[in-house]
Amino acid sequence: MSMRTPQVEADPTLPSEITIYEVGARDGLQNEKSVVPAQVKAEFIRRMASAGLATIETTSFVNPQWVPQLADAAEVLELLGDEGRGPRRPVLVPNERGLDRALEAGVGAVAIFGSATETFARKNLNRSVDESIDMFRPVVERSREAGLWVRGYVSMCFGDPWEGPVPVQQVVDVAERLMDLGCDQLSLGDTIGVATSGHVAHLLDALQERGIGLDQTAVHFHDTYGQALSNTLVALRHGITVVDSSAGGLGGCPYAESATGNLATEDLVWAMEGAGIRTGVDLESLLSTSSWMAQQLGRPSPSAVVRALTNPL
Ligand code: HMG
Ligand code: MG
Repeated sequence: MSMRTPQVEADPTLPSEITIYEVGARDGLQNEKSVVPAQVKAEFIRRMASAGLATIETTSFVNPQWVPQLADAAEVLELLGDEGRGPRRPVLVPNERGLDRALEAGVGAVAIFGSATETFARKNLNRSVDESIDMFRPVVERSREAGLWVRGYVSMCFGDPWEGPVPVQQVVDVAERLMDLGCDQLSLGDTIGVATSGHVAHLLDALQERGIGLDQTAVHFHDTYGQALSNTLVALRHGITVVDSSAGGLGGCPYAESATGNLATEDLVWAMEGAGIRTGVDLESLLSTSSWMAQQLGRPSPSAVVRALTNPL
């Protein structure tokens, strides 16, 4: 017989409930070679919401020349109507021009995205780390005035393809600067998927020592080296309860060499279901959404759980 759900055995070392912050429509689709039509993007977001994903990053208001894949941000939100707006539908915004566009589209939440390293700040934002913080300051200020929820990402928290190892204190410095701007939540990006368990624990301890609460912090693991789920478990055992993942494991960053997909939401949900942890997500319904999206993209999902459930023993 095939098993469609894991056997449930409670794991008292994990929280009883987690919040999944779904990034497939943004982190996933920003990296597709072909441009996915706005209608398909909107349908993907609708299907993910009906599978029970409450928080969905929908798109990016970045320079459309830098990320043509998401140049249709306003159109996608227009197609979604109320379903694409509100505090649980963040969009990426790098600068005031992006914020103007996002406000015009009626968003309720934004995410700025800084870098722990100078090289990636230049490659991704065309700015030094200092200059990018200066660019974000008025974005966060005006967002708060407008009553928006604000997330601050830090990329390259666990290693950088150009600079190599990234000192933990350097990551904490950038994280602190973003939180001092007034972000509601921090997300720690393992942009290229190189983190391992001890490193995750060390960074979370260092953040707490600097007064950044883990109740304000999320983890964002890419799965390049197959470590995303084990790193997530370490983070959950440390007190993190917000986890970024992407339906079907879509993802990557067009400005980071060797970045592949995020932790697949299905892999996360399977692990949480087995441990008796609430996510609000219906796995079968999410699976059919990812399978539908994989068809649109013309290639199978890299998620182990999607593969296993699509071709059961
Ligand atoms: P720049 O070229 O330095 O921008 O790019 P600029 O300020 O010099 O402006 C140049 C032109 O672009 C101007 O037009 C601006 O109006 C226009 P012109 O006057 O020449 O006609 N422009 C814009 N147009 C529309 N929307 C905008 C916008 N901004 C400028 N927002 C910039 C600087 C930051 C804009 C650029 O570098 C950029 O867009 N970068 C985004 C790159 C990106 O999206 N990367 C992927 C997301 S990050 C990620 O994936 C990591 C994450 O998942 C976490 C992790 O995994 O670690 C979050
Ligand atoms: Mg990412």
